[in-house]
Amino acid sequence: MILIIYAHPYPQHSHANKRMLEQVRDMDGVEIRSLYHLYPDFNIDITAEQEALTRADLVIWQHPMQWYSVPPLLKLWIDKVLSHGWAYGHNGKALHGKSLMWAVTTGGGEDHFAIGNWPGFEVLAQPLQATALYCGLQWLPPFSMHCTFICDDETLQAQARHYKQRLLDWQEAHHG
Ligand SMILES: Cc1cc2nc3c(=O)[nH]c(=O)nc-3n(C[C@H](O)[C@H](O)[C@H](O)COP(=O)(O)O)c2cc1C
Repeated sequence: MILIIYAHPYPQHSHANKRMLEQVRDMDGVEIRSLYHLYPDFNIDITAEQEALTRADLVIWQHPMQWYSVPPLLKLWIDKVLSHGWAYGHNGKALHGKSLMWAVTTGGGEDHFAIGNWPGFEVLAQPLQATALYCGLQWLPPFSMHCTFICDDETLQAQARHYKQRLLDWQEAHHG
C-alpha cells in the first residue's frame, strides 16, 4: 500500500499539489491522509497515524516547500508520530523495511536549487533523508515539481502524470 501524507496549509489555493492528488486519488492501493483537513487544530491522532503507517509499504511526504522546509503540521507530524520505541530507539522498528519518497512542489525554478548561491536540492533534502534512514526507511529518489508559479495548466498536468507514473512504476516493481 502507498500512503500519501499530504500537508498543504492552503489546499483550496493549490494548483500543483491539487493536480498531483487528482492523478493518484483513484489508484488502487493508494491512501491519502490530508493532514490540514484531518487536524485543523494541530491535534494529531498519533495512534491513527501509526496504524496508517503500519499498513503502508511506501510512505510519501507530499507538500509545497515552505522556507526550504516542510509546512509546520508535517514537522509536528514527524515529531509526534515517529516516536521513540516505535519508529526508533529500543524496539523502535515499526518502519523498518518500508520506503519513503519526498514529493515536493516549489515556487522556485530548478536552477534555484543548483549548488551556487543557495544550498542545492540534495542538501535541503538531507534532514528528511536522515530522518527516514534513522527510522529504517529506504530513501527513494524524490519527486519534485518546480516553477509552480509560472507553469501553465498543461505543464502542471504533465508533471502530475509523471507523479502518477512514479507510483505505478513502484507498484509494478513491488507487486508485479
Ligand atoms: C510561507 C511560504 C513559504 C514558501 N517558501 C518557498 C521556498 O522556500 N522555496 C520555494 O521554491 N517556494 C516557496 N514557496 C512557494 C510554494 O512552494 C509554492 O507556492 C507551492 O509549491 C505551489 O504548490 P501549490 O500550487 O500546490 O500550492 C513558499 C510559499 C509559502 C506560502
